[in-house]
Amino acid sequence: MRATVTANGPGRLPADFDWGVATSAYQIEGASDADGRTPSVWDTFAAEPGRIAGGDLADPGCDHYHRWRDDLDLLAGLGVHSYRFSISWSRVIPGGRGTGNPRGLAFYDRLVDALLAAGIDPVIALFHWDLPQDLQDAGGWTARDTAYAFADYALEIGTALADRVSRWATMNEPFEHFALGHVIGLHAPGQTLTGDEAFSVAHHLLLGHGLAAQALRTTGARQVGLINSYAPVRPASTDPADGPAVSALDAIQNRLFTDPVLLGGYPAGLEAFGMDPHGALVRPGDLQEIATPLDYLGVNYYTVLGAGAPQDGDPLPFRLTDPPGYEHTASGWPVAPVGMRDTLQMLRERYQQALPPLYVTETGAAYDDKPDAEDFCDDTERIAFLSAHVAAVADAVEAGVDVRGLMVWSLLDNFEWAEGFAKRFGLVQVNFETAKRTPKASYQWYRDLIKQQSEATS
Ligand code: FCB
Repeated sequence: MRATVTANGPGRLPADFDWGVATSAYQIEGASDADGRTPSVWDTFAAEPGRIAGGDLADPGCDHYHRWRDDLDLLAGLGVHSYRFSISWSRVIPGGRGTGNPRGLAFYDRLVDALLAAGIDPVIALFHWDLPQDLQDAGGWTARDTAYAFADYALEIGTALADRVSRWATMNEPFEHFALGHVIGLHAPGQTLTGDEAFSVAHHLLLGHGLAAQALRTTGARQVGLINSYAPVRPASTDPADGPAVSALDAIQNRLFTDPVLLGGYPAGLEAFGMDPHGALVRPGDLQEIATPLDYLGVNYYTVLGAGAPQDGDPLPFRLTDPPGYEHTASGWPVAPVGMRDTLQMLRERYQQALPPLYVTETGAAYDDKPDAEDFCDDTERIAFLSAHVAAVADAVEAGVDVRGLMVWSLLDNFEWAEGFAKRFGLVQVNFETAKRTPKASYQWYRDLIKQQSEATS
């Protein structure tokens, strides 16, 4: 059955609803060795043959490091209230530990000032998957020390910017970084860990989050949060044997990085993955650090997942299936706006009083845009996707979920990790030969939506 959501009319979201767009450092900056930056795990990984579709390299890519003023004009033209970007750890602290690099820091300092001057709120994510390679060489997230290095980095950046930046995220999607980067090996650092080694990555990411949240607060950061991805899990069939598979995938995708943060404990069901949350890795006091109170939770939503009972020899306690009845984006992800509403309601029902206000910190879609001779893309599919997902957020708000804002992923077409430049999510088309930017029809649509929503509710 095709999912439906009610149409979006101007004014269905509150007047002070925060409209934004998001990017991340490694996906747009380029300039991988400029001004003292050292490699991150993504530089190392992308350089290995066969890791990235088409052998694409992120540098120069969008070359945002040198073209950020153009991108600021695009943000201003869009009329967004906020802009989320991430900081390249190895740009501001080469090697990941020790003294800050003034030249790297100056880049973000200028960006923050220019955003504020343009009336746009900067929202900073400290970690969007690009761990400094030197820290990886010392064990990466399997090493407990990395969590402490992350807190030191948070302190350094907070000290430099929290006087002007009010909203912060410690991390973006630790689950994807854990699962794709450390268990399946499709992302940097390309590991295929199991059991306690895999669990150590999850636990140290969570510990790093908690310690960094505390460090940020000591620097005066007012809004501190974590950004997670969520995906409702649908059973592959009506066979009751699919039930445990659904629970297993839900536990790892939707609960592993949320229950400890909001409830102070690991969810049930991790044993099915060979992970032991009651073993020596979790030291006394860790769960309290991890459960440091947050001001908001960031929700990235793209799609729903399907799960069926595993078959003999499957390494995981579920088999991923394609839920029937949906169209797909160019990434092959089902288009399921109703899953956005379900996710937001699920969070409220699951965590109740423990749930802080929510922001949708990413939603968006890759489509095979066809630029015309002027590089213009009439991306009607992306507009339909975004419009339906905005409407689904409005449905959740009307059902009583406290959602304060929404960010589209992404401002620019960019380096989509293992997919390279082939998958385009931008409101702005980027020609990767010339780095020329051309706003798509979806850019105009989003600009008009922000304007109409603000006018209808003011
Ligand atoms: C999210 C990531 C983001 C981007 C989108 C498409 O999982 O946070 O960097 O790749 O997916």
